[in-house]
Amino acid sequence: MDNVFPKNFLWGGATAANQIEGAWNVDGRGPATSDYARLITSETKKLEGTFDQHVPHNAASLEMIEDMDVHPENWTLPKRWGIDFYHTYKEDIKLLAGMGFKVFRMSISWSRIFPNGDDKEPNEKGLEFYDNVFDELHKYGIEPMVTISHFDIPMHLARKYHGFLSRYTVDAFVRYAETLFKHYKGKVKYWLTFNEINNILSNPYTSAGVIMSGAQHPNDCNPYLGHWQEKFQAVHNQFVASALAVKKLHAIDPNAKIGNMLCRLENYAESTKPEDNLQLLFEDHFNWFFTDVQAKGEYPYYMERFFKHNHIHIQMEPKDKQILREGTVDFITISYYMTYVMRYKGKSVAEPTGRLVSDIKNPNIPRSEWGWPIDPIGLRITLNKIYDRYHLPIFISENGLGAMDTVTENGKIYDDYRINYLHEHVYQLREAIKDGVDVFGYAWWGPIDLVSSGTSQMSKRYGMIYIDQDDYGHGTKKRLLKKSYYYYKKLIASNGADLEDNIDY
Ligand code: BG6
Repeated sequence: MDNVFPKNFLWGGATAANQIEGAWNVDGRGPATSDYARLITSETKKLEGTFDQHVPHNAASLEMIEDMDVHPENWTLPKRWGIDFYHTYKEDIKLLAGMGFKVFRMSISWSRIFPNGDDKEPNEKGLEFYDNVFDELHKYGIEPMVTISHFDIPMHLARKYHGFLSRYTVDAFVRYAETLFKHYKGKVKYWLTFNEINNILSNPYTSAGVIMSGAQHPNDCNPYLGHWQEKFQAVHNQFVASALAVKKLHAIDPNAKIGNMLCRLENYAESTKPEDNLQLLFEDHFNWFFTDVQAKGEYPYYMERFFKHNHIHIQMEPKDKQILREGTVDFITISYYMTYVMRYKGKSVAEPTGRLVSDIKNPNIPRSEWGWPIDPIGLRITLNKIYDRYHLPIFISENGLGAMDTVTENGKIYDDYRINYLHEHVYQLREAIKDGVDVFGYAWWGPIDLVSSGTSQMSKRYGMIYIDQDDYGHGTKKRLLKKSYYYYKKLIASNGADLEDNIDY
């Protein structure tokens, strides 16, 4: 069989603490921003008359956060219970191992280690939990890849310091990262700093714990409102925090590697008009910007004009430029879900869209039930472009399809749509490797059903393992294996060579 995947290719899946662990107030864990992310359903959207059904804005305003503390019974906050992985990790890892996983991307909940984010001593119970998880993964030969900050910031840092708007949070983050590197030295070989760092532009609360000043309504936290000064300052502070963490890891554990994480949005011009292609360039710059800084170690030339035009002044400390230069990542990781379409906006200076799903539909590709464009060829294009630009090894830290699943009377889930999605994306990944791109792993997003990041829904399922639990946390919590479980298992066993869907389920 013709196979191009490297022998030790890391096949596996990706998760985040706030979307799986639950146990939000157990064993000394402090409150995190994600504990205040409410459920958004199509009903909520209708009631609130939102402008765009695809924009995730379950982030809370200050007013809502205060009400959630006083009247939690009035709110549905699913990330507080997740899928209870905190208690079921052994059983769940066993099921993941059953698919032949080589890697499991997960994150550490900062407030489980430092309940307020800046406590004097770490919480031993928190450290012990991840020791147990890593040991359990190693038992099955699964390598953990750990994101230090994946969309949950200790609430204390968000409330008191506006999260990453403040350098205080940068210092707290570096201490947190250092604690992890020292404690888990030898157990974790792959680290990532911030999940989808570019998401700050659309979700500053979720990504960076920034509660926008004067926010009275959830829409105040949404991408359409500028606040560019605050957003880009928080981005800068995360760049510095990330670079400092890179430097710490290299000093503490030279055998470990550390990467970035970019939500890669591949863009196409709507037409052959030069203007649409100029818009494409603008939008691309706003995506490249993040990895340019994290991988090349300096602000790219094209941001200067944008900052000047928008009167954005990034406050830097004297050593920041040096820190960025010295703290470049060892490898690149991307989440890849979709492609965008760009149409000229009539301006000669770029303006970031900052939105998740573009409103211009590409008639050539289908969309998921949640309106996310499905474009496997875009993955090949993007991998080539990234490799061409950075010449660093790439890991696909997320790719997947959120869909409604139906369980038959005899407990089966025939998720051929998920199999098809996986098949087509791995096919294009294979083509990219044939093109010469250095990709060393692929993690399916949410291999076990989990709580959605954007909407906090459980019904937006990504998993190959089904969990009998609804949006409100009701159900038996029983785990069932979907058809895709057996498909992915076979695919991994053949090291990506066998993509045929001939599963007898
Ligand atoms: C990425 C995030 O943006 O997309 C994940 O890193 C998230 O945390 C995933 O779950 C899918 O998004 P959603 O909103 O469907 O959960």
